[in-house]
Amino acid sequence: MIIEPYASHDRSAFDCGHPDLNTYAARHLGQYERNRLAKHWVAVEQPNGPITGFYAISQHALDTQSLPHRIRKRLPRHPVPCSLLGRLAVDRRHQGRHLGEILLFHAFSTVLRASREIGTFALIVDAVDDNAANFYTRYGLVPLEHNPLRLMILTQTLLQHMTA
Ligand SMILES: CC(C)(COP(=O)(O)OP(=O)(O)OC[C@H]1O[C@@H](n2cnc3c(N)ncnc32)[C@H](O)[C@@H]1OP(=O)(O)O)[C@@H](O)C(=O)NCCC(=O)NCCS
Repeated sequence: MIIEPYASHDRSAFDCGHPDLNTYAARHLGQYERNRLAKHWVAVEQPNGPITGFYAISQHALDTQSLPHRIRKRLPRHPVPCSLLGRLAVDRRHQGRHLGEILLFHAFSTVLRASREIGTFALIVDAVDDNAANFYTRYGLVPLEHNPLRLMILTQTLLQHMTA
């Protein structure tokens, strides 16, 4: 499996089992990419082949009030810069083979690379439902206060556990 930047790959047969994410992949992904609202990385079996998985990543300003007190007490009161993993999905035919994990670790590396040049306090993830949130908590992400579907991991924590 190869992970490469999205470049008009075929998305027509993509089916992760979640209607909103399927619609995003089929109808909106290209538009988000063209308008530079998100950068997409896609998993393919051969270069430029049909996508078997993808994630979308953007910049985000996070309101510090949503952070646990132990973290926000050392931060300014205004929003802080973060990366946002808005969507991550794996085609049903490829689920259960650690592709979701590989894509998530790729996103961690992307954040670490970006953080060398742009202030990035944390990675924020929007889980599509409780089941998806459970997937992310396996990897050390913790829910933000008052929103169990939005989770985070500090860039500092990623740095301690990974090399970009
Ligand atoms: C959630 C999703 C990305 C996981 O991808 P995947 O390739 O099937 O998962 P992986 O094979 O990488 O799983 C890695 C580990 O996480 C576990 N896992 C997978 N999905 C899980 C879930 N929903 N909750 C808890 N654990 C989960 C696996 O059992 C595996 O554990 P193991 O290492 O002990 O074997 C995929 O099922 C998917 O696209 N689902 C639909 C869309 C979605 O929910 N996206 C997520 C957020 S928007």
